[in-house]
Amino acid sequence: MGPLSIRLPIHSYRAELVEAVKSSRCMVVTGETGCGKTTQLPQFIREAGLASKDSAIAVTQPRRVAAISVASRVAEEAGVELGREVGYQVRFDDCSSSLTTIKYMTDGCLLRELLDDPELSRYGVVVLDEAHERSLATDILFGLVKNLLGKPLSETKARKRELKVVIMSATLNSQQFSTFFDFCPVFEIPGRTFPVSYHYCCPDDGFDGKKLVYMSQMARVVMEIHLDHPEGDILAFLTGQGEIETMCNRLFKMAEEIDYEHDVSCQEICGMKILPLYGAMSTEQQQAVFHGREPGIRRVIVATNIATTSLTVDGVVYVVDCGYVKQLAYNPSTGLDTLSVVPIAKSEAIQRAGRAGRTSPGKGFRLYSAKFFEGLERETVPEIKRTSLTSVVLSLKCMGILNVVEFQYLDPPDEKMVLEALRQLFFYRAINADGHVTDLGRQLVQFPLLPSLARAVLHSRTLACQEVVLPIVAMLSVESVLIRPSSTKDAERALQKHNYLAQVSGGSSDFSTLFTIYQLATSSADMRWWCRDHYVHWRAVNTARSIHQQLQSLLDRQPETDTHETPTAPLSQRIRQALCYGLFGSVARLSPGQRSFRTMDGHSTMCYIHPSSALFGQEEKLDWVVFYELVDTAKTYMRTLCPIRYAWVKELLPQLHDIDVYRLSNCERKREVAGVVAGEDLTLATKKMCQSPKETLK
Ligand code: CDP
Ligand code: MG
Repeated sequence: MGPLSIRLPIHSYRAELVEAVKSSRCMVVTGETGCGKTTQLPQFIREAGLASKDSAIAVTQPRRVAAISVASRVAEEAGVELGREVGYQVRFDDCSSSLTTIKYMTDGCLLRELLDDPELSRYGVVVLDEAHERSLATDILFGLVKNLLGKPLSETKARKRELKVVIMSATLNSQQFSTFFDFCPVFEIPGRTFPVSYHYCCPDDGFDGKKLVYMSQMARVVMEIHLDHPEGDILAFLTGQGEIETMCNRLFKMAEEIDYEHDVSCQEICGMKILPLYGAMSTEQQQAVFHGREPGIRRVIVATNIATTSLTVDGVVYVVDCGYVKQLAYNPSTGLDTLSVVPIAKSEAIQRAGRAGRTSPGKGFRLYSAKFFEGLERETVPEIKRTSLTSVVLSLKCMGILNVVEFQYLDPPDEKMVLEALRQLFFYRAINADGHVTDLGRQLVQFPLLPSLARAVLHSRTLACQEVVLPIVAMLSVESVLIRPSSTKDAERALQKHNYLAQVSGGSSDFSTLFTIYQLATSSADMRWWCRDHYVHWRAVNTARSIHQQLQSLLDRQPETDTHETPTAPLSQRIRQALCYGLFGSVARLSPGQRSFRTMDGHSTMCYIHPSSALFGQEEKLDWVVFYELVDTAKTYMRTLCPIRYAWVKELLPQLHDIDVYRLSNCERKREVAGVVAGEDLTLATKKMCQSPKETLK
């Protein structure tokens, strides 16, 4: 144990755990959140000599923040420099080296590694952590790793010794994991938890499920705890960055009781320190949450569900839970994944409250009623059953798993979703009509991007506009570029600056606005100052710059397949054409005489231009547009868009009538119900897709 380590429940079981890892190829380890699984077990394995730099330990995390934060903590505990013996790798950010023995990485990164190294020959031990979260990539890794375990060593030439697999999870579903791995042993680390008493802050006939209500309730409850309850930190759960920032501001104002201009990132007032915690925050900002506890100061950590099991904050005695979570889900009526705020599951509510009882008896305040709790689903639906599968299906196909319908899933996704993914891939020409990966498909999978954006990137080279399209794609890949302050005065000023940036770039394309921001910021003498002055997140632009370089080098490595002529069209047109080449599935057309649009992907979803767009209010001048994403709030809005011409997408809109999706999936058509999807529905949808543009051709 390093000097930093405190004694954790897992330390009492060190010898048994090491013995268990030695004696079985696969095992499940469960234990209460915070007992030390993620930070300690990989160190035990390394110190027991079960891993080395040539046979390293990969520890997967569903969230990038958790991977980075845990790696820093472990490097610190082990007294080594981060990136050497202990490192991390997340999308677009690799902080590991050939010396790295313990590598924390996102599950998505390990999935990508499997494409180049199907036997994971660099690793001696693979730890699939946070398995109970049931993220899409972890679920797929379950099947792939099981496959690897099934292969005898003689078949695997690249491996020097047998691979070991450890599945780690909070105390949920351990039996299901063990059953999946042929009833492998389960090691339960007995918890040291204290009772948590629950308080429902809303009567049964109250306003359950109203966002405005839980925001003001939370502020009130937090202040009450602060004023009336004994010492102990407060952990409050909200759904996202916007809400968290608003709440931090509100709490600060309530504590101070006067209007005051300030920065919300770290506040200390009236014996209370207010700290936000969410995924898009920088690592340094997060460190404030793990360090710097001071006696006599009560900390209020306002977090997303990242603090439920991924990150453990010490010292919490009170938990305040809004009862909601922001979740990505496939919307069958639009055919796209959308983020929406939904009630949590019972298991999540229990886990959240459990954070109050780690070190002493605690209290859980639920901003909803007992009846609301009783009505919640038992478990969170695994991601594989609610999001689009396009990227993972392409990865599986590239790994040679042709029959993706009958892959060994821990929980099989709805067959319709697999077929929809195949249809999309066929649409992108990533697979051919026989369900085999095309050359284009193999190129697309090289990019850590959605297939749509990867296609735009590839095509930008053909159209000689990569200097613009790559920065745009990089800017689309970072979270929240624009700062939207909550105080009215600041918000107005920010809006003026943002409008100015849109005007500078021509005022007719949100993609161009992103490029203008990138260009002005990166070419300014003082980028930090420029960003602050224009209400742009400096960190976002800085990350985009690094992503731009990575995309450039990936693109340089791709063989040029298209024969290109010297483009004659103006640059602004070529940029939009390149974007269309990837985003043609997200094309919409203005309904005559209206402000609304209809998508042309066969779903014919009615949508509007988002008020934050440069094109908002210019509807009457538009006809066809391509957009980057749809957001569902009061209405369905297109966000980040630009006008296009029908002629650019005409050829790309798919001709799917003749395609049998079962051929794409390389398996027999089995069920009647599936026949309907594969045949009728698809034909109808695609007929619509191909007819409507022709009828309305200008
Ligand atoms: O994985 P599990 O939930 O079992 O626990 P862990 O993440 O290994 O956390 C064990 C201890 O390390 C807790 O007391 C955390 O507060 C601490 N920790 C920390 O101080 N900083 C981090 N970045 C991660 C963990
Ligand atoms: Mg953990």
